[in-house]
Amino acid sequence: MRGTMTTVLNHPLVAHRVTLMRDASTPPKLFRELVNEVTEFLAYEALRDLRVRQIDVATPVAKTRGAKIDEPRIVIVPILRAGMGMLDAMLGVLPYARVGVLGMQRNEETAEPVPYYAKVPEARDGSELAIVTDPMLATGGSACDAVAQLKKLGYRRIRFLNLIAAPEGIARFEREHPDVAVFTAARDERLNERFYIVPGLGDAGDRIFGTL
Ligand code: PRP
Ligand code: URA
Repeated sequence: MRGTMTTVLNHPLVAHRVTLMRDASTPPKLFRELVNEVTEFLAYEALRDLRVRQIDVATPVAKTRGAKIDEPRIVIVPILRAGMGMLDAMLGVLPYARVGVLGMQRNEETAEPVPYYAKVPEARDGSELAIVTDPMLATGGSACDAVAQLKKLGYRRIRFLNLIAAPEGIARFEREHPDVAVFTAARDERLNERFYIVPGLGDAGDRIFGTL
């Protein structure tokens, strides 16, 4: 199957915020606010084709037709812990979504993801939409494992929202999950010898939670 396109947001409002996030002197409070704002832009782009139903609406002036989101089962799935930083923004735009979480910790030497927790509702019939969030796509191990877990639970419509992606992670993700669209705010240069994204923004979890 031909890979679903990875979409890199190309917009000054996004680039400005990503630059501030990269800055090592940006403190956690501002960093979290920037993550929120960029996640809203990602959601805007990633949810363009959300299913809607036409409804009647009466404005103070006239009756007209409007649209109502018709997606009864949306599940937002942050990958612990950094993915939690994108959750508030996602719930802001999709207040009725449910939340499942997947705990994943990279082995510091090998960068292999080690799953340590999973609490995601099973999909009923494959019509559910799962939106995975994680700010960093480095080797791609964590995101690929998360999506594989969701597929095992019966999810067929999955998207991955991300802030910074390495070419290596994009290539692996597209190879392993060609049916899952990726939306990212920046495609960076490469990984370094510790599997960190260059130039990246460092450890996203530490920067969100102030654990540097
Ligand atoms: C980071 C990040 C991703 C993962 C990306 O999490 O939030 O989940 O690394 O790397 P990969 O693409 O090579 O898998 P980490 O394991 O450091 O845990 P944390 O979110 O708890 O800090
Ligand atoms: N995880 C991070 O938080 N940052 C990276 O650059 C790579 C993995």
